Amino acid sequence: MYPDRVVSGMRPTGSMHLGHYHGALKNWIKMQTELPCLFFVADWHALTTHYDDPAVIERSTWDMVVDWLAAGIDPTQSTIFIQSRVPEHAELHLLLSMATPLGWLERVPTYKDQIENLANKDLATYGFLGYPLLQAADVLIYRASQVPVGEDQVPHIEMMREIARRFNHLYGKEKGFEEKAQEAVKKLGSKRAKLYNELRTEYQQDGKEEALAQAKAMLDDAQSLSMGDRERLFGYLEGSRKLILVEPQARLTEASRLPGLDGRKMSKSYGNAIALREDKDSVTKKIKTMPTDPARVRRTDAGDPSRCPVWQFHQVYSGLPTQEWVVKGCKSAGIGCIECKQPVIDAIIREQEPMHERAQPYLDDPSLVRAIVADGNEAARRLAQEAMRDVREAMGLGYS
Ligand code: TRP
Ligand code: SF4
Repeated sequence: MYPDRVVSGMRPTGSMHLGHYHGALKNWIKMQTELPCLFFVADWHALTTHYDDPAVIERSTWDMVVDWLAAGIDPTQSTIFIQSRVPEHAELHLLLSMATPLGWLERVPTYKDQIENLANKDLATYGFLGYPLLQAADVLIYRASQVPVGEDQVPHIEMMREIARRFNHLYGKEKGFEEKAQEAVKKLGSKRAKLYNELRTEYQQDGKEEALAQAKAMLDDAQSLSMGDRERLFGYLEGSRKLILVEPQARLTEASRLPGLDGRKMSKSYGNAIALREDKDSVTKKIKTMPTDPARVRRTDAGDPSRCPVWQFHQVYSGLPTQEWVVKGCKSAGIGCIECKQPVIDAIIREQEPMHERAQPYLDDPSLVRAIVADGNEAARRLAQEAMRDVREAMGLGYS
């Protein structure tokens, strides 16, 4: 009913590194060629944990957009914007908060985890508890069908789906819905109307998912319907409600996961990261000094790749022949660690070359970045305002 659309965001809390590239950005870059995408800087989300350090947010916001562009997010294909420049996200967050049970937020796994992990920060705040609801507003406001995220975010997407379902249930009632829906069925023409009713019955009585899918496909093809009738017919298939918000799906990153230099998760705060646009010499030095299998004290000691973070880099960066060369050479002490690291150094530098190139014009003229984001803000805002009109009306706030 609503067009397929992708939405995702990142928190501007520091500079981007290769872990972000392999863990998330590569997935975004692929998706932008498949569907319309909106990517945003989640600056309000950053404030939920960095409310006492807002300076880092401003700096990271612009750096992050340059990093996205450098990595290959194409502003002619994707909409790039900043969350706080589309204040409708906050309005939807507020409205959703009215009917969101506290328990839903308290049982989100990241809530308790983060409070424990970031014990040096006071996260017993209203904003932090509301984080996943703000995230729900970010996505639902664009009626997005897909959200590329990492595994840790899947419970947030689950909650979004529940929020959307509950919203449609509470506010998708329309006076005379049943009658209006039946009028709309007639407008399909007698053959299609008959099929629609049969499929609806099959789905509602027997829970046949294929019947639902078939009916939806038929509606997609029915060109002559008005937007309102189309929504009613989609809603009527599944129950007796209009669908105002869309339940999104998580699109997991097939993680070619890149750890940090020490084998732990790559993170700037661990000091084990390679920045997305790190310069060549620094990359070379970092890889050359990165730890290897501790059992290989001398060049003649045999090693075991499974105990070595360099091997994890080979798994991301090297083809099979090189990988075989590493395993054989390491286990037999046939190669030294410096030798083993060279293909990784070369591959990272090769990967980063086009990134440096793409970033250069934006570094030379930062107003280009500002202009891209200004356009994105405007485009996102138009979509958000459209949805908010429906939401306000559904919640009885449509007076003028
Ligand atoms: N919570 C996400 C993270 O920490 C960032 C985020 C905010 C997001 N809003 C979003 C991701 C909406 C996807 C969709 O990584
Ligand atoms: Fe690690 Fe390669 Fe050295 Fe083996 S040879 S310990 S895989 S760096």
